Amino acid sequence: MAEEKVLVTGGAGYIGSHTVLELLEAGYVPVVVDNLHNAIRGAGGVPESLRRVEEVTGRTVEFEEADILDGAALRALFEKHHFTAVIHFAGLKAVGESVRRPLDYYRVNLTGTIQLLETMRAHGVRKLVFSSSATVYGAPRYLPLDEGHPVGGCTNPYGKSKFFIEEMVRDLCRAEEGWQAVLLRYFNPTGAHPSGRLGEDPQGIPNNLMPYVSQVAVGRREILSVFGNDYATEDGTGVRDYIHVVDLAKGHIAALGKLKENCGCKVYNLGTGTGYSVLQMVGAMEKASGKTIPYRVVARRDGDVAACYADPKLAEEELGWKAAFGLDKMCEDLWRWQKNNPHGFSATA
Ligand code: NAD
Ligand code: WQD
Repeated sequence: MAEEKVLVTGGAGYIGSHTVLELLEAGYVPVVVDNLHNAIRGAGGVPESLRRVEEVTGRTVEFEEADILDGAALRALFEKHHFTAVIHFAGLKAVGESVRRPLDYYRVNLTGTIQLLETMRAHGVRKLVFSSSATVYGAPRYLPLDEGHPVGGCTNPYGKSKFFIEEMVRDLCRAEEGWQAVLLRYFNPTGAHPSGRLGEDPQGIPNNLMPYVSQVAVGRREILSVFGNDYATEDGTGVRDYIHVVDLAKGHIAALGKLKENCGCKVYNLGTGTGYSVLQMVGAMEKASGKTIPYRVVARRDGDVAACYADPKLAEEELGWKAAFGLDKMCEDLWRWQKNNPHGFSATA
C-alpha cells in the first residue's frame, strides 16, 4: 500500500490513541492534532498516551499541539501534509457538563467541526470518519437499535451536538461532489489495550460507569453509586452495550476502507449487540480483578434510559467489521491497565 497519511483529531484521547495504534499496525501514517484539553502531557511535551503508543508499536507518531478552532494552525497542518482522510475525535464529551456549559460544547463540537470541514475542503481532502454516538437515538423506541431508528431526540447539548454534526456532514455530502463520510455511532466503549500501557484516564471524578468501577477496584474510590435499581430490566439496573476499545478502534480502520469505495455518507453502529446491566458489569470486574467492589443504590440519574444496545449487523455486512471481544476480555484488559497505572498516565494522584 502506498503511504496513506490520516489526520486524527483528538488522537491523544482514549479512543483516539487506541485508533492511532491500530492505524500504525494497519500500515497507515497517522498525524495527530490535539490541544491536550483532556490528555496528559508527557516527556518532551508529547502526550503520554502517544508516547505509550510509540513504545508498544516501536513506531513514531507525528503530533501537533493545536486547537481545532485555530484555523491558521489547521491550515498549516494541511499545507505540511497530504492527508487522504481525516478521523475526527476531537471534542468535549461530558454529558452533565454540557448541560451546565452548552455554549462551550456547541463552540468546540460544532464550530470546531465546521472549521475542520472548511479546511479539508480548501485542501481537497473530502474523506471523513466521525465519532458519533448512540446518544443520537435518544430514548429507544425499540431494541436493538438499528441505524434506521429515529434520531435527534437527545435531551442534552452534548448529544444534540453529535446529532447536529451528523446532519451537517450529511448535508455537505449531498451538496458538494466528492465528499465521503462514515458516521460511527459508538455504544459504550470500555477496556484498554492488552499491553496494559494504554487506557482511559478520566480527569476528576469519572462520569462513566466502568472507569468508576475500576477506580473502586484499585482503591482510588471507596464505593460505587448505582443509579437506580427500579428499571424494567432483569435486575432493575441500567443495561448498556459495552464494547472493547480495541474493537472500536478497528472499526475505524474498516471505515477508512469503506471511504475508498466512494460511499457517500454512511452511518454505522459500533456495538456488540449484547446488553449488560450495571450489576453484571460490577460482577465481571470483581471476577477480573479478584477484588470486592462495594456499591450502594442511589436515585436514578437524570436523562438515563433503562436499556440501550445495538443491532450491529449493518457494520458487519458493509464494513466487514464485528466486535471480537466479550465481557471477560474487556474487564481483564481494563483491570490490567488500572492495576498497572492506578493514577492513569500520571505517576501520582
Ligand atoms: P477523550 O476526551 O479521551 O478524547 C478527545 C480528545 O480531543 C482529547 O485528547 C482532547 O484533548 C481533544 N480535544 C478536545 N477539544 C479539542 C480541541 N478543541 N482541539 C483539539 N483537540 C481537542 O474522549 P474519547 O472518549 O476518546 O472520545 C473521542 C470521541 O468519541 C469524542 O468525540 C466523543 O464525543 C466520542 N464518543 C465517545 C464515547 C465514550 O463513551 N468515550 C462514546 C461515543 C462517542
Ligand atoms: C452506564 C450505566 C448508568 C455511572 C454515556 C453518554 C453517551 C456515551 C457513553 C458519549 C447507566 C450507570 C453510571 C455510575 C451508575 N458517551 N452508572 N453509576 O450513560 O450509557 O452513556 O457515555 O457519547 O453519550 O450518555 O454511560 O457509563 O455513564 O452509564 O450506576 O457511577 O451505568 O446509570 O445505566 P451512558 P455511563
